[in-house]
Amino acid sequence: MLITRNDPCWCGSGQKWKKCHYPRLPSASSLAKLYLDDYGIILKNPEQIDKIRTACLVTAQILDALCHHAKAGVTTLELDELSRKLHKEAGAIPAPLGYGQPPFPKTICTSLNEVICHGIPDKRPLEEGDFLNIDVSCIVEGYFGDSSRMVAIGRISEEKKQVMEVSKECLKRAISVCKPDRLVKEIGKVIEDYARSQGCSVVNQYVGHGTGISFHEPPEIPHHYNDIEIPLAPGMIFTIEPMINAGLREGVIDPKDHWTVRTIDGKPSAQWEHTILITETGHEILTQPPFS
Ligand code: MF3
Ligand code: CO
Repeated sequence: MLITRNDPCWCGSGQKWKKCHYPRLPSASSLAKLYLDDYGIILKNPEQIDKIRTACLVTAQILDALCHHAKAGVTTLELDELSRKLHKEAGAIPAPLGYGQPPFPKTICTSLNEVICHGIPDKRPLEEGDFLNIDVSCIVEGYFGDSSRMVAIGRISEEKKQVMEVSKECLKRAISVCKPDRLVKEIGKVIEDYARSQGCSVVNQYVGHGTGISFHEPPEIPHHYNDIEIPLAPGMIFTIEPMINAGLREGVIDPKDHWTVRTIDGKPSAQWEHTILITETGHEILTQPPFS
């Protein structure tokens, strides 16, 4: 916990820490209460973490299988059918199905080429030169995991290759920030600094999010420059899912399906996503289990 002697005491007395409980630090339970009261953030306890770890493991396994299945000639609808089967076999519920308004109609998001996010699986076969993001969000015994990856279909353009690499590196750099006392805003800073240095833009209409007990929980984790000064704390679980564009950052929602978000200029967009746990000493990438 980032607390200095002159900060208000964690106990809520309104006095300075140095005049109140100093040098005592808040216990895990008072820290949890503080985060819930101040930010609406649920710091997860060890039992909850175990359950969420399992949900994230299942998420990663399903995502892995779907990525291996994504080849030229395969439709994204077939990926959705395989996803249904894999969820069923794992005893998992696909979180996107029926989510939101209008209800999302499929079990995964498949976002192709210029689609930024929330693409709906359909009958179009994947073609050489396409690239796509596959996004899997699972519910296992009531707990959530959320992860996505890019897949290239055969040889892709230099522009796509670049945006795919840049978005992966953005996620990697953002994860390296994740440890207690670092601020939420530092995540957006490392992502946007790197994306800009590579001539890419960062989508600011969609953000990462707390997850685990509900699909989307506080806090929001922007991938762009922001000034959210919430310190990361042990037990926080959230996604980082930077959407990086080769051209302009703006996205446009499809007026017919109300879900598919495309780049305004039609240029490619790429995204990678992990669910991250903040530990006492750093972080654990819950959706990157040892097998992968
Ligand atoms: N990872 C995406 C998110 O957190 C998954 C979206 S599923 C959808 O929003 F149903 F909302 F499309
Ligand atoms: Co997400």
